[in-house]
Amino acid sequence: RIVAVIMVGGPTKGTRFRPLSFNVPKPLIPLAGQPMVHHPISACRRIPNLTQIYLIGFYEEREFALYVSAISNELRVPVRYLREDRPHGSAGGLYNFRDYIMDENPSHIFLLNCDVCCSFPLPEMLDAHKGYGGMGTLLVIKVSAESANQFGELVADPQTNELLHYTEKPETFVSDLINCGVYIFTPDIFRAIQDSFTQRKDRANLRRVSSFEALQSATKVLPADYLRLDQDILSPLAGKKVLYTYETRDFWEQIKTPGMSLKCSGLFLAQFRHTSPHLLAESKGSRSATIIGDVYIHPSAKVHPTAKIGPNVSISANARIGAGARLASCIILDDVDIKEHAMVIRSIVGWRSSIGKWSRVQGGGDYNTKLGITILGESVAVDDEVVVIDSIILPNKTLTVRVQEEIIL
Ligand code: GDD
Repeated sequence: RIVAVIMVGGPTKGTRFRPLSFNVPKPLIPLAGQPMVHHPISACRRIPNLTQIYLIGFYEEREFALYVSAISNELRVPVRYLREDRPHGSAGGLYNFRDYIMDENPSHIFLLNCDVCCSFPLPEMLDAHKGYGGMGTLLVIKVSAESANQFGELVADPQTNELLHYTEKPETFVSDLINCGVYIFTPDIFRAIQDSFTQRKDRANLRRVSSFEALQSATKVLPADYLRLDQDILSPLAGKKVLYTYETRDFWEQIKTPGMSLKCSGLFLAQFRHTSPHLLAESKGSRSATIIGDVYIHPSAKVHPTAKIGPNVSISANARIGAGARLASCIILDDVDIKEHAMVIRSIVGWRSSIGKWSRVQGGGDYNTKLGITILGESVAVDDEVVVIDSIILPNKTLTVRVQEEIIL
């Protein structure tokens, strides 16, 4: 029996996703037409003997209630949201719910960050993990040396794949091999977390003997039950023959900004070619819009046959796309109205927004910079013939004149 746990975090972590995260928690923002967290969840379908999926976070329970019940029915695997009253860190959060998780009596536990985009090679990781015989196996990937310091950098034994050294977001370069935020563990992980708590307590007690002030500052920085998987568990266990690595040669990205969510939406759409081709739209002659590349269109959306859509476009429920409209590299959320001959490129258009005739909403396409794409929050109205470039527009604004490289509050 195997269970999967997906760490979804909480509202304080989602600030970079404003204004989209005003409406829904970051893990529920649609990428490729499905909530972000749906992608790791649906990858779990390939795990043999999967009995339960838990989402652990500190968002309000009601925010996940609808999604969790819908996806449980669809997958026919129970999916349950477990709410922390406050953040406990990635290892602390997992440990908090050990009784629920161990109720299933699992032989293995998958642990996935919800904000990563990859092919989630979970069955392959399971096989490799069984071969290594350790307590845990991390999915790892080689990235460019310049970008590695945004992640956990690690060194693995080229022969045995054992994790030899691990440093979280180091200031000086360690390695271009990084932690993908996808793990498989045996239940012994709970003992390792418990040990780490005990050691921390012992250290704090020692400090109490030597200096009361030191203890105070130590407890101020980290609450006693706050524990991070990377720094507090992986780092100290590296080189101890309990952790191993599985290197993916597929794609992998981290989704920390709206720009990256647009890029990852495209990667997930491309992945649908292999996993869910029925979700991709196709041109059907003169009765349907012209479709270029990978495109998702919700069945309730209405797209005019003279519109030209793609590549990398996802259109959510009840959106209307008018005659002659041109859409490329964009995410169009529910109930958006795009009028005739409007153009939307490298942008995210929030719920219930409208874009007037012959207007243009466009981003420059540098997905890592703040204004690299244009984002319209909920219920933004762009008047006819108005141009919006590289800008972030907060909810409920009406744009009547050209806007470029601005944040409209
Ligand atoms: N439930 C819960 N509670 N989830 C949490 C908490 C918490 O207190 N803190 C973080 N998370 C979730 C986040 O939502 C995310 O899915 C995951 O745990 C990891 O978040 P962080 O601990 O903030 O780390 P990070 O995303 O900056 O980096 C981690 O992931 C990278 C891969 O994406 C590290 O493990 C890096 O080494 C790794 O490269």
